[in-house]
Amino acid sequence: MNQDEVDRSETDLVVLDNEPSWREFQERALRRAGFRQVVAYPGKSQHLDEYLNHGSGRKADLVVFGIQPDNDGCWEHLRAIRQFYEGPLLATTERNRAGLRDRVIDLGCADCLSMGEYGEEGLELKVDTVLAAHRINSMIDENDHRNQRLFVNILTVMVKILESKDPYTRFHSHSVALWSRMIGRKKGLSEEELIRLGLAAVFHDFGKIGIPEEILNKPSRLTDEEFEVMKQHPTIARDLLSSLDLLHDLLPAITHHHERWDGRGYPAALRAEDTPLWARIICIADAYDTMASRRTYKDPMPTERVIEELKKGRAQQFDPELVDIMLEILAEREAEAQAQGAPGNGKK
Ligand SMILES: [Fe+2]
Repeated sequence: MNQDEVDRSETDLVVLDNEPSWREFQERALRRAGFRQVVAYPGKSQHLDEYLNHGSGRKADLVVFGIQPDNDGCWEHLRAIRQFYEGPLLATTERNRAGLRDRVIDLGCADCLSMGEYGEEGLELKVDTVLAAHRINSMIDENDHRNQRLFVNILTVMVKILESKDPYTRFHSHSVALWSRMIGRKKGLSEEELIRLGLAAVFHDFGKIGIPEEILNKPSRLTDEEFEVMKQHPTIARDLLSSLDLLHDLLPAITHHHERWDGRGYPAALRAEDTPLWARIICIADAYDTMASRRTYKDPMPTERVIEELKKGRAQQFDPELVDIMLEILAEREAEAQAQGAPGNGKK
């Protein structure tokens, strides 16, 4: 069977219509057409959710909804169905009139069939067409999602390649992701948010791919001009990644990870809580990891110095509450390390 053909013996339908004679007519017609299960209820029923689930936990493959255009309640019911039923909806009406089709399509129906004109056979064929179109659209969505996932994996490899050019930044984005998630957890983010935050952290410096290597790997201090070029990396990342739907929710965190609490950061000079929370978290995780790790131009800072710098940056560079959270995490890790007789923070 082709993907655009419908196996009626595997397809369950629900008919919702307030008008008993039309309801029975449609139910009978679709049963005769060989659909596996056809059940019919008044559209205004209080238990629509149960009906659409067929009482068996299985969503109806398609809902036929009878519209009486002059009955306001009927439009409300249609809206209500869309709250809990994501499958295809076919509106039917006794006679079509101007603007009706557009109105039902706006409310999420696939089409509107005039039963008076097309009758029983028209209903069968329209149900098949809507089911086939829904199936094809779902396959396209699925493929698109799969392609985007693949693309995100490729980008992750690109981040690793970018970082591997400098042995001292090899694990930087991974490490910033770990610290960001630790801070985010204490700040009360959900598990789903922590996963997304971690991914934003992995990509936080993705824009460095567009910065010339002589600036990126310069062992000495950057000149003012070079620093201006370097400052473009968050917006380069935003521009490069903005076409990917799967990363869309991460863009504010990536774009603003160099803002400062006092408004002297870049690219938008956002102040305090105007900077998105995830960006504020990545900012402090990034600063901590950079201070505590070796770079071509510097040795790792001892933990006491890092703590001092974090405190100095409180309410200047960093969100004060996040500094407290970071200090708490560092203290906990230190205590844990001491309990195990191992070296603590800053000696990674
Ligand atoms: Fe950065």
